[in-house]
Formats: sequence, structure tokens, C-alpha cells
Amino acid sequence: MTLLSVHDLEVGYGAITALHGIDLEVRKGEIVTLIGANGAGKTTTLRTISGLLKPQRGDVRFNGNPITGVKPHVITKMGISHVPEGRGIFANLSVAENLELGAYLRRDKIQQAEYQRIFTLFPVLKERMKQNAGTLSGGEQQMLAISRALMSKPQVLLLDEPSLGLAPQMVQTIFRVIREINAEGTTILLVEQNAHMALVTAHRGYVMETGRIVLADETKALLASDRIKKAYLGG
Ligand SMILES: Nc1ncnc2c1ncn2[C@@H]1O[C@H](COP(=O)(O)OP(=O)(O)O)[C@@H](O)[C@H]1O
Ligand SMILES: [Mg+2]
Repeated sequence: MTLLSVHDLEVGYGAITALHGIDLEVRKGEIVTLIGANGAGKTTTLRTISGLLKPQRGDVRFNGNPITGVKPHVITKMGISHVPEGRGIFANLSVAENLELGAYLRRDKIQQAEYQRIFTLFPVLKERMKQNAGTLSGGEQQMLAISRALMSKPQVLLLDEPSLGLAPQMVQTIFRVIREINAEGTTILLVEQNAHMALVTAHRGYVMETGRIVLADETKALLASDRIKKAYLGG
């Protein structure tokens, strides 16, 4: 079942067109990755899905219903949660306060079981709850950003470059958790420049170049493709 889809999406910044009519779909239960070089249009795609940018043309559908033009907080409430590039956490608030902000759109308080889930995914956050988020390492901030996004109980999680700038061991941790969150039932659209990790983690992938989708396939096929090996996998 298709959970999230975009059709013929054209998005620009003033005179600059960043997306030239892209199509993609994410089915329930999948991890789908969107890979491509810097400037390809990956962030623009996620920001349009989550309602932060308005397309000039085309539409975004969630559970079959058009959500183009719907306000970002409403889209979050509908079940799409976005972990932005650069993480977007509040450095001067504590870890606990950042998590509470993630739950802000809900009417109920964060349940103990949800804290337990977060601490099972990321044990280190338990020790950091009272610390200001700005004092966390880059990897811990990414853990917090993902945890905060989970507080709105999303059906789909949009992740924008979660491994960017992290040490190799932390990259492994983040990708392991992405698989765990997916295994627990959350559908994931993962934007990455780390094509190798993204392709070994996801089920299907889209390859984006200068605002266009140039390839779409099962990740197994993409990993075996000479074109992908040459352009994105260093050989
Ligand atoms: N705020 C902006 N104003 C003008 N151009 C932008 C802005 N953000 C992105 N762009 C341009 O849109 C294109 C796609 O950018 P982006 O979606 O950030 O790519 P990616 O996330 O794949 O690196 C690039 O050419 C970039 O320079
Ligand atoms: Mg980007």
C-alpha cells in the first residue's frame, strides 16, 4: 500500500527551479532512500513533503489524500515527522524539554513506555535528560532529533542526512537504529549523501541529479549497477 507519494513535483526558490517534476512513492513498512550529490534537491523534496515549501506544480499525497498546501504542523499531526538537515534541536533547552516539544502537538503527556523506548534505542540519552542539548556530541544530538520526531508517533519519518558529520562508529549506530525503528513499524524516507550506508539499509532507492530522479529501483539492483558504483560508491 502506498503511504506517501509525490507526483510531478516542481519546486523553486524565486527564479531557481530546484525540482523539475519528480515522482516518488513510499509504501507502508518500507525504508526508501533518496540519494544524490550536494545540491541535487533532496532537502527541497523533504521540505515540500512536510509542508515547509509550496510546489509550483504537482502534488504530495499521504494515505491517498492530497496534502499539498497543508500547514506543516497539521502534516505532522497527520503522521509525517521530519528530522531536518542540521537536526534542528534547541541547544539552550534540556534533552527532556526538546522531547516534550516533540510531543507538543499531542494532547497527552509523554508516556513512561515511550521514554523507555527512546532509552532502549539510545541508552545514552537517559543520562543526558537534564543536560542542555547544546552540550551533546553531534551523534547524541542526532539521536535526540530522531527521538523528538518519534514523539509525534509518526507513520512516516523523514530523515535528512542523519549521518552527516558523524564519526564512523556513530554512523553505524544511527543506521542500526533506523532499521530498528522501521522494524517496529515506522515507514522511513531517508535522504543521504552516504550512498553506501543508505543503499545497504533501505529496501528501495531513488537517485537524484540536479532536481530530477534519474534512477529508481530495489537497493539490491542499485548496489549492483555500474553507473551507481562509479558515481556514488567510489568505484
Ligand atoms: N533557500 C534557498 N534559496 C535558493 N536556492 C536554494 C535554497 N535552498 C536550496 N537551494 C538550491 O536548490 C537546489 C537544491 O538544494 P537542496 O534541496 O538543498 O539539495 P540537497 O539537499 O540535495 O543538497 C540547489 O541548487 C540549491 O542551491
Ligand atoms: Mg540537503
